[in-house]
Amino acid sequence: MSHLVWTADLNTGIAEIDRQHQRIVEYINALYDQKDNPDRSVLAAIIHNVVDYTESHFAFEEALLEQSGYEFLDLHKKVHALFIRRVSLIKGRFDGGEDVAGELHDILSRWLFSHIRAEDHNYKERVKGYLAGRGADAAAAQTKAQALQASDYERLLPELNQRMQKKGWLARLFSR
Ligand SMILES: [Fe+2]
Ligand SMILES: [Fe+2]
Repeated sequence: MSHLVWTADLNTGIAEIDRQHQRIVEYINALYDQKDNPDRSVLAAIIHNVVDYTESHFAFEEALLEQSGYEFLDLHKKVHALFIRRVSLIKGRFDGGEDVAGELHDILSRWLFSHIRAEDHNYKERVKGYLAGRGADAAAAQTKAQALQASDYERLLPELNQRMQKKGWLARLFSR
């Protein structure tokens, strides 16, 4: 295992989603850099960040899929929830004093790219169609999906905005 490297085939063509995925990769790489650090407070902060950001991304993605009327939303949510449970168990072991940083890094890095290439790529056409408006052709949908900014999503996903502001997630999720 080494640093994860982003490759073009991972792009969904939805700019905000691709940006969030790349941010998760940065967090996973930060964990890799520090996984042998004996200072547990450094590791604790990194583990907190990677788990918290990933959960925020899942909440954003699920809200977008729901808004888009994606037919496999329930299944996608289950996959996210199972993964969060798995990661939370490992995080719990870290909190209990175990050395889990290497194991956590391996699981995160293996899971993320395979999830993006499989489940996340399955929703991209539906979401792009939704973002561009019904009846838009593929090229128009692609252009729109690339052009949307954080503020557009705050407008498009008002419910998410409310939910995430409570937890202080939205600002961090969209911070550049
Ligand atoms: Fe996903
Ligand atoms: Fe995702």
